[in-house]
Order: sequence, then structure tokens, then C-alpha cells
Amino acid sequence: MTNHRLFISLVFLVLNLPQPAWPTDWPTFNLLEANSSNTAKPQTVKVSHDPVYKTAKEYQAYPLAEILKKITVPDSLKTDELLIVFTSADGYQVSMAYRDAFTEQGFIAFQDNAAMENKHWLDFKFGKQIMTPAPFYLVWPKKDLDEWRYPWPFQLISVSLQPARVYFGAAAPAHADARINNGFALFSRYCIRCHSVNLSGGKVGPELNIPKNISEYFKEEELSGFILNASAYRAGTKMPHFESIITARDVQDIVHYLKQMKSEKVQ
Ligand code: HEC
Repeated sequence: MTNHRLFISLVFLVLNLPQPAWPTDWPTFNLLEANSSNTAKPQTVKVSHDPVYKTAKEYQAYPLAEILKKITVPDSLKTDELLIVFTSADGYQVSMAYRDAFTEQGFIAFQDNAAMENKHWLDFKFGKQIMTPAPFYLVWPKKDLDEWRYPWPFQLISVSLQPARVYFGAAAPAHADARINNGFALFSRYCIRCHSVNLSGGKVGPELNIPKNISEYFKEEELSGFILNASAYRAGTKMPHFESIITARDVQDIVHYLKQMKSEKVQ
């Protein structure tokens, strides 16, 4: 075989490598089609401090876990890598870890009990705007749940499932061993709502890779200490305390993941 032919057959081989079988349409539940026969019996849900209305509220709602049961998880997806993506009518999206939805009870509310007979919702003030949570609003009755792990999106229209490495594509490591993968799974569960990596993720805290990776200017031995207990480093920090939530070994995996991203910066 000539070099030329060899090259062509190699290219052919590479192109024929099996592609990961990502569905293009992620498994989705269209909330506009929800009713008590295809979803679950509605329940009365009490919230002691609603972050949108800033007061105690009572809603009619479907349990989130029941809606999730109606969404088939493809066999190729591991549930610890999965996110629930909530989409609002204007296209706004927010995500949370799939498994967190089974440790705390969330509810998809469709009616405010304080609304008058012919209305389902009361308006609220959002900055200077007058808004409504209609058609659906995600609420969490348990007191004091972290909002960065348990979001309260309103005007919801659908719930879908996606792997974190697809939804937060640029933040996902292309080259990873088991510990780096675990680090990314943890990061997308606990950190990404506030921090971006490769500009993918939240904006409450600083970006951790662009232009400098956190490990390029933060002492490595201090990094895990900071992640576990940020207030031991900075008074009044907005970064939550993770010592009681994440083990020291898991924090090491998060650090492995963050360091890996140093060699995978987006341009
Ligand atoms: C509720 C939002 C929030 C969450 C969740 C959060 N952080 Fe932070 N983090 C911050 C903020 C805000 C800062 C910046 C300044 C400060 O208050 O210290 C910060 C600072 C940092 C810093 C120092 C960055 C610098 O350049 O000073 C690191 C590293 C960090 N966070 C890592 C993490 C990791 C890893 C997780 C997940 C285990 C996480 N954070 C979760 C808000 C958050």
C-alpha cells in the first residue's frame, strides 16, 4: 500500500469510529400537557418563605418526582451525570442535578391558592416589572434549601434531561480519568450554578479557567481548603461552606478536574 492509500484508509477508519449516540432531542416532559391523569394527583403545598413573593404561600402542585418518572432515561446515560433542565416560556433555562431532585421534594405549582376564582396566579414585582409565574412554577417546601442547588424558576413550560457534559459543553473535560470525571460531576452538581469554566456556567462567582486557570495563581494546597471552608479565608464571602456537604477526597477530585482544564482552555 502506498503512503497515500494508507493515509486515506486511516482517515476512513477515524471517520468510522462510533460516535457517542446523543439523542438530538433530549427526553422532555411538556408541562402544558400535564393533567392529573397523565401526571399525578395535584397536592396542596405550603411554602413558608417563597423567594419570589417573599412571604408564606400555598399552591396546587404536581410532585416533581412524579413528573420525572414520566421521562424515560436512556440506558446510555448514567443518572449521576444527568441534569434536569427547566425551560421557561421566554427561553430562559436553569439546571439542577437529577439526583438532587430525589433527595428533596420539589413541586411544579400550577395555581396559587390565594388567587381569585377565575385566576390561577397573583402577579409579583420583579425589579420594576409586574410578572406572573404562569403557567408553572417550581417550588421547594422544605425550609432553607440552598437556592444554588434547588432553583425556583417560574413561567415554566418544560422539563428535560441532559448530561452535564452536553449542557455545559465547554466546561466538560475532553481528557479525563475516573477521578477527573468524578470531579466534573461534582462541579456540575455543586459549583456550576455560580462559577463558569471556559465561560460555561454561572456568574455569581469568578470564572475559574479563562484567561488563567485557578491553579495557575492559587496555591494548590490552599485550593481544597478554600473550597471546603471559604470563610476561613475571606470574611463575608458569598461562597457556601462545603465541609459538611463534600468529602475531602471528593474535593481533591474537583481540584483534579479544575487543573485538567488548564490544558483545555477555549480560545
Ligand atoms: C452560591 C454561589 C457559589 C457556589 C455554589 C460556589 N461558589 Fe465558589 N465562589 C463564589 C464567590 C461569590 C466567590 C468569590 C469571592 C468570594 O466571595 O470569596 C467564590 C470563590 C471561589 C474560588 C476562589 C476564586 C478566586 O479567584 O478568588 C474558588 C476556587 C471557588 N470559589 C471554587 C468553588 C467550587 C469548587 C465550588 C463547588 C464545590 C464553588 N466554588 C461553589 C460563589 C460560589
